[in-house]
Amino acid sequence: MTEASTPDAQNPNAQTPNAQNPGTRSSDARNRDSQDRVLIFDTTLRDGEQSPGATMTLEEKLQIATLLDEMGVDIIEAGFPIASEGDFEAVSRIAAISQNAVICGLSRADFSDIDRCWEAVKHAKRPRIHTFIGTSPLHRAIPNLDMDQMAERIHDTVTHARNLCDNVQWSPMDATRTEHDYLCRVVEIAIKAGATTINIPDTVGYTAPRESADLIRMLRERVPGADTITFATHCHNDLGMATANALAAVEAGARQIECTINGLGERAGNTALEEVVMAMKVRNDIMPYRTGVDATRIMNLSRVVATVSGFPVQFNKAIVGKNAFAHESGIHQDGMLKNAQTFEIMRPEDVGLNATSLVMGKHSGRAALRSKLRELGYDVGDNQLKDVFVRFKELADRKKEVYDDDLIALVRDQGTNAANDRIQVKSLKVVCGTEGPQTADLVLTIDDETKTAHAVGDGPVDAAFKAVRELVPNEARLVVYQVHAVTEGMDAQATVSVRLEEGGKIVTGQSADTDTVVASTKAYVNALNKLLVRRLKTAPAAVTV
Ligand code: KIV
Ligand code: ZN
Repeated sequence: MTEASTPDAQNPNAQTPNAQNPGTRSSDARNRDSQDRVLIFDTTLRDGEQSPGATMTLEEKLQIATLLDEMGVDIIEAGFPIASEGDFEAVSRIAAISQNAVICGLSRADFSDIDRCWEAVKHAKRPRIHTFIGTSPLHRAIPNLDMDQMAERIHDTVTHARNLCDNVQWSPMDATRTEHDYLCRVVEIAIKAGATTINIPDTVGYTAPRESADLIRMLRERVPGADTITFATHCHNDLGMATANALAAVEAGARQIECTINGLGERAGNTALEEVVMAMKVRNDIMPYRTGVDATRIMNLSRVVATVSGFPVQFNKAIVGKNAFAHESGIHQDGMLKNAQTFEIMRPEDVGLNATSLVMGKHSGRAALRSKLRELGYDVGDNQLKDVFVRFKELADRKKEVYDDDLIALVRDQGTNAANDRIQVKSLKVVCGTEGPQTADLVLTIDDETKTAHAVGDGPVDAAFKAVRELVPNEARLVVYQVHAVTEGMDAQATVSVRLEEGGKIVTGQSADTDTVVASTKAYVNALNKLLVRRLKTAPAAVTV
């Protein structure tokens, strides 16, 4: 089982490359612990943000990076610095604030990309440059390089990166569809050129667990110098096997898992962090690996990422789905009451989920609210607490029972609908029902100027959206409109997500309110505010991975 060199994040003197001691190399990599340490590399802010519509603001990225750092993630891939000014700034700021994690930036196999990446990550206590190139036949055809030319490019770019930074990760993109002989050849070149981590991406989610393990085993057996570096696994979920493939790679000797919160990522997403961390915890009897992640922070991060990305977590998602710990049938409920272990392999609190509880009524004070929010994982500052408190009181007036989920919706809503947004909803009045016409009277402030509109529509939401469009003319196409009840009951708050597309730019807005039409209008306005920010952003190079 302990086939691999052990990245030992605890021991800074360990000779294998590791999170505490980046870039250190050794030819004598031995296990120092009874259980192998697997490094967790989170790419929510890079691969995760590549999900269409999951674009995050700078503040949102800083918030997520801080939470990941506090949670004990070993490496945070903070972005793709050459992609845009926004990405560059986000990576630089995250590098500057991170306390523990290695901060990594992505770059193509190009000197100027790598230089830009270094400029952004160099502020970190522990910087890493991650450079990649597609090595499969299909990918080699794109830059039109033959095998020898590509090998030379890999040598030159990894050498360049290593001259800048002593912690260099190299990825042969589409590794799982690259000829084995060629893969061995280029991995060897990258190691000789100074790469300290070799990542093996299953870019299109094509591999299966046995093959994923065999590939890592083959590389470790055949490539000279393989014992001096850390192998990483990076799996996409196109066939629903990303978690299984990542764990299989670990069993074969990979010691870094690349993953994202909620499995966010290109197309069907990446390996979900919460799944691999909990799988190795719960089935430690057969997967005796340890990570540095504090699993009790999982639920909070999952909620934050769902909010800022606008990608709600599917109800039956493993670990973080709303139903992951719900027991519906009588037999299950009965069993749970007698002994929770009958139907529960882990406890909700292990992932930071507390039993849904009635929180407070309208007489509850600010201190109680602060302590409840802290318990839910939200450490709010004084100003934010003041705002949330006002909204909590309003909600408590309208809604008989205020639950944890209601409070979470309030905090998130307050975060997504910021006071400095250019467009703000001031008031909305709609007429609806069986007797038409359905109308909306809307007051917005746009750059602090008050504007009003009256619109007729096919239903109250349509009327309200038309009124918004009258005041903020735009060609954005509504691609997703989703409504979720936050809790049960007729007086439940609704969380609304609105996704807009304009000229290839996709943005997602969200809002929560006990009035579905108000939540919808605010979500629409929230999306338009994001679109305004996106329009202003300049992207010097159209970079995609
Ligand atoms: O999926 C992939 O191949 C990637 C690489 C850039 C590592 O995300
Ligand atoms: Zn990827």
